[in-house]
Amino acid sequence: MTEHLTIVRHPLVQHKLSIMREKHTSTASFRQLLREISQLLAYEITRELPMTTRTIDTPMEPMEAPVLAGKKLALISILRAGNGLLDGVLELIPSARVGFVGLYRDEETLQPVQYYFKVPDSLEDRLVIAVDPMLATGNSSAAAVDLLKQAGATDIRFLCLLAAPEGVERMREAHPDVPIVTAALDERLNEKGYIVPGLGDAGDRMFGTK
Ligand code: URA
Repeated sequence: MTEHLTIVRHPLVQHKLSIMREKHTSTASFRQLLREISQLLAYEITRELPMTTRTIDTPMEPMEAPVLAGKKLALISILRAGNGLLDGVLELIPSARVGFVGLYRDEETLQPVQYYFKVPDSLEDRLVIAVDPMLATGNSSAAAVDLLKQAGATDIRFLCLLAAPEGVERMREAHPDVPIVTAALDERLNEKGYIVPGLGDAGDRMFGTK
């Protein structure tokens, strides 16, 4: 991908996102819509996957048929909200390997601290798609990408549902080589680091916690 930020403006994505943003949308609907949108976003983020051809036999005759060139994929969920995006993407790419990165924010230093890291082997040979619905300050996203690079990843993309300008800028500074695909670029962050107008806490809304 050549663009650092791609906003998927497809009408289905935008319509579903608007329903997700509404505060009275139920947990069940939120989760279902997230699953549907994540498939549409995955379609976009994999648009330029390398292709090759393979000789196949149709019932009529042999043909050189286009197939994926075989670069292996790793999907990395940034816990916990990343899991909501992960499910839909996995439905579209069921053979992808899956990893998890868990980070929490140290209340004193305000820096992200790793509490879980389990990723597929040979990350250097894979296209790595990191998923997290909300790109807010960008601190944890940038830290997660740091960890993936330390583990060997060189071809990384970042998939989110909503982004704030601050988060996009943070990622552009820290990881200009990591393209971002999102459904919307919102206005700003509020003083608590929530995206405005946003949709609230994505983890709470998808898991029904508070
Ligand atoms: N995380 C969320 O879940 N929501 C925001 O608005 C920002 C970060």
